[in-house]
Amino acid sequence: MDWSVKFVDFPKAFRRMEGDLMDTIREVLANGDLIMRQQMIDFEQHLASFVGTGDAVGVSNCTDGLRLILEAAGIGPGDEVITVAHTFVATMAAIHHAGASVVLVDVGDDHNMRVDHIENAVTSRTKAIMPVHLNGRLCRMDQLMEVANSHGLLVIEDSAQALGASFLGISGGAWGLAGGFSFYPAKMLGAYGDAGAVVTSDRGLAQRLRGLRDHGRVSKTELSGWGYNCRLDNLQAAVLDLKLKCVHGWIRRRRQLAAMYDEALSGVKDLRLPPAPTDAGPHFDVFQNYVVEAEGRDALIKHLTANGIETLAPWSTPMHHQPLGLSKFRLPNTERLAASALSLPLTTELEDEQVRFVADTIRRFYS
Ligand SMILES: Cc1ncc(COP(=O)(O)O)c(C=O)c1O
Repeated sequence: MDWSVKFVDFPKAFRRMEGDLMDTIREVLANGDLIMRQQMIDFEQHLASFVGTGDAVGVSNCTDGLRLILEAAGIGPGDEVITVAHTFVATMAAIHHAGASVVLVDVGDDHNMRVDHIENAVTSRTKAIMPVHLNGRLCRMDQLMEVANSHGLLVIEDSAQALGASFLGISGGAWGLAGGFSFYPAKMLGAYGDAGAVVTSDRGLAQRLRGLRDHGRVSKTELSGWGYNCRLDNLQAAVLDLKLKCVHGWIRRRRQLAAMYDEALSGVKDLRLPPAPTDAGPHFDVFQNYVVEAEGRDALIKHLTANGIETLAPWSTPMHHQPLGLSKFRLPNTERLAASALSLPLTTELEDEQVRFVADTIRRFYS
C-alpha cells in the first residue's frame, strides 16, 4: 500500500544520514572489524554515560539481554518475577526462558505497571520485579523501588522503549539492578537489524554479563562457565554509536511532535491522549510511541487506513489470552487497552503538516 503517512519511514531516515552511515559502514568493512571490536567497546562506553550507569554491555537484542540479566542475577527455576502483560511478549519470554515463573499485574491509565498492585502479587518465591517503561515514559520508579526494597526484591527494567526517558532525573535502566534496551530498527535508536544492550552499575554483574553473552569467555582462553552467543554485532555497534550522537536532538523533535498532536487532538471527547510533554513534572518522556485510547478504535483504524495513514494497535490480543499459560491472571485495564490503544505515527521523519493531516482525519471520523 502507498501510505501518505507511514508508521515508520525507514528509507527517509536512511537518506537523512546516508553519507555518514556509508562512511561508517565502509570503514568497518574495510578494516574487517566484524566481531567485538573497538566500535562495540566505544558504543558501550558512550551508552553507559548517556544512561548514567557504570557499565553497558552490548548484546544481540533486548530479549536476550533481559534473560541474561536474570541468569546473571541468579534468578531461575522456582523463582517468580512480577511484570505486566501490556507489553511485547519479549518481556515475559525473557522470564520464562530464564526458567522463572511469570507473575502478572495490571497496568494503570499511563499504560505502565500499577505499583499499588505489586504488593498483592509478592509471594515467598518472588525474586524480582520487571517494570516496562512503555512508549518512552517511565513507571513511578520512586514508589516501585520502595515496594521492591521493602520485600528485598531485585528490579530489572525493561527499558526497550525508553532510551533517554527519565523520572526524577534518573534514566530508565539506571534505577534498578540493571536494564535492557532494544535497538530494533523501529526504536528511536534503531540498528539495521537486531541489536540490544544491558546497563548496570554493578561491576560484578556486568562482568558476568560479558561472559554470558560470549560463550562464557572472560579472555581469549579462559571461561567463567557456560555461556551463549548473544553478542552485539560490531557493524551494528558502529552504526549505533554514530546515531547515538543524534538522540538528544531526536528526542527534542519527538516531544515537539507530541505537543503538536496534543494541541491538535485536545477536546476530542472519544480520545484519551497521553500526558503532554512537560519540563515541570517528574517525568521526562521521549515518545517512542504516541499512543491514544480511542473509542471505536478498529473503525478508526479503517478510516485512517482508507486515508493513507498507517497506525498500529499494540497487542490487541492481550498476552494473558495467548497460549502462554498465563490465563489465570485478571487484568481489566490490560484488556481495555487491548481494545482501545492506538499508536499514531510519530518519528523524527514526520513533517508538521503530516501531524495536522492525521489529527484532522481523526477529527473528521468523530464529527
Ligand atoms: C517493551 C519491549 N520489551 C522488549 C522488547 C524486545 O526487544 P528486542 O526486539 O530487541 O529483543 C521490545 C521490542 O519491541 C519491547 O518493545
